[in-house]
Amino acid sequence: MAKKTKIHEIVKYPDPILSKRGEEIMVFDDELKTLVEEMFESMYEAHGIGLAAPQIGLSKRLTVIDVSFKKNPEEKIVLINPEIIEREGSLYEEEGCLSLPDIRDKVKRAAKVKVRAQNVKGEWFEIEGEELLARAFQHEIDHLDGILFIERLSRLKKDLTIRKIKKLIKNGEW
Ligand code: NI
Repeated sequence: MAKKTKIHEIVKYPDPILSKRGEEIMVFDDELKTLVEEMFESMYEAHGIGLAAPQIGLSKRLTVIDVSFKKNPEEKIVLINPEIIEREGSLYEEEGCLSLPDIRDKVKRAAKVKVRAQNVKGEWFEIEGEELLARAFQHEIDHLDGILFIERLSRLKKDLTIRKIKKLIKNGEW
């Protein structure tokens, strides 16, 4: 029988770890590989298509993405120490986040991006994404910089959203 993968609890706003810049990953060992597997499983368990390390309480520059949601193993992407090196066009679409349950809003993002990152072995690679994948790259890399998507809303929408969350917290519904 396969070893059971640890499922991590998802950290929710306003946990301060979500506003911190994650630390660069320097060691590419078996522990990191295990962590990556745990992150994929934790993401699937939470019905997400992207999960960043700060969202499981680890302030590190690591994110996993699968916009196919388990349908295509080739679409499982691990980005370590990633940076966006090219941006093209723009799209204004709805976005959500596992750290902000049931909050959705339209966010302006580049339509196409190129990302440079390291894999679990520490090898550098480049990957391009369009539309949903481009959005996932930008959303997840934002997490590594301590930025949540609500920070990218208009001042008014952001204030309304935060007020709504505060009310939910007060009522014990968050
Ligand atoms: Ni998110």
